[in-house]
Amino acid sequence: MKKIFIVANWKSNNVESIKWIQQVQSSEKEVIVCPPFTVLFDLKSLIFNHKSSIKLGAQDISPFTMGSYTGEINGEQIKEFAEYVIIGHSERRKYFGESGEMINQKIEQAVNNSLIPIVCVSELDQSVKIKDQIQSLKLKNPEQKIIIAYEPLSAVGSGNPDTPENANEMASLVKKELGDVFVLYGGSVNSENVNSFTTMEYIDGVLVGKSSLNSSEFLKIIQNA
Ligand code: PGA
Repeated sequence: MKKIFIVANWKSNNVESIKWIQQVQSSEKEVIVCPPFTVLFDLKSLIFNHKSSIKLGAQDISPFTMGSYTGEINGEQIKEFAEYVIIGHSERRKYFGESGEMINQKIEQAVNNSLIPIVCVSELDQSVKIKDQIQSLKLKNPEQKIIIAYEPLSAVGSGNPDTPENANEMASLVKKELGDVFVLYGGSVNSENVNSFTTMEYIDGVLVGKSSLNSSEFLKIIQNA
């Protein structure tokens, strides 16, 4: 049976962390929560205290190592708290002007700090731009896990998800381009539609924004996936 990843992206929202961790249970699925940076420390303690198997991820990473980069949180700092990091989310590309080159730098910083990058792409062209970077990192460490999240722009935060067939087709193309990577689907995933994506041959899980904020709904997503 394939491993299913369920990733919660809280974005810049406040969530009742204690209730969320108490309620959200994972079994055989890899559940990852990516809260705002300021909450990572508290969540790490909560997860430890509740003996939860939920993993932590950051929502972004500095493209640089430690140094004079005001406002940035670097990979060395993130790895104290998290195992995963989202890179190149469409909101970062749109509102913060992140370029393909910067995304490649971020992927490198993540991998250099043993973080698993969850790289968001909204079209095949964006996967082609990270191809060389990913292949050279994989050559250095063939065991390095890389996750790609396919998130079409029209589906993110809109309530209009892509069709599972189309998402599956994209996932298959991304795997053909990039080789051994996991591919998630993201964009308006909820407890009703999650299964139609996770049962697709080339889709290894989902990246969930809005529906991850409510712990009961997110628990249903995990159960139905
Ligand atoms: P959404 O967000 O589930 O609210 O569409 C997905 C994402 O942005 O990762």
